[in-house]
Amino acid sequence: MNVLFVCLGNICRSPIAEGLLKKKFEESKTTGRVESAGFESFHINDSPDPRAVKVCAHHGIDISGKRARLFRVSDFDAFDKIYVMDFKNMQDVMEVARDETDKKKVDYLLNLIEPGSNKSVADPYYGGFDACEATFRQMERACQVITDQINKNA
Ligand code: 4NP
Repeated sequence: MNVLFVCLGNICRSPIAEGLLKKKFEESKTTGRVESAGFESFHINDSPDPRAVKVCAHHGIDISGKRARLFRVSDFDAFDKIYVMDFKNMQDVMEVARDETDKKKVDYLLNLIEPGSNKSVADPYYGGFDACEATFRQMERACQVITDQINKNA
């Protein structure tokens, strides 16, 4: 199962989710490609935000090697599921979707823990370490659901 996480800058939320799910895949011996991407060209090739790196390191996850990249239409072919963090990301992804097959792959990450809620993952870019930690914990629950669902169907 190949999973892509999408946020705006690809330096805070989606790199944390990528690191989290990669670790969960490793721990549960789940196979699949896990990546993240964004829609804001300002940060291309940047390392993740230092707060995101620190929060992940605190939980034993090293995301310092990640470099921000833009979402590309071919991601619809490469990934089975595309999880977005908020309404703006959803709009951005839907705008470039080519057909219903592409659109069906996309969902809000938090719908995994609150189905149908279409809630946003708060952007820790605008907060401090505590906000980043809260975001981490929220996304950890959602990533656990992804791994559980895959292994239940395996
Ligand atoms: P992210 O956070 O989408 O979680 O990576 C942001 C990072 C940068 C900006 C906005 C959000 N920015 O406007 O530069």
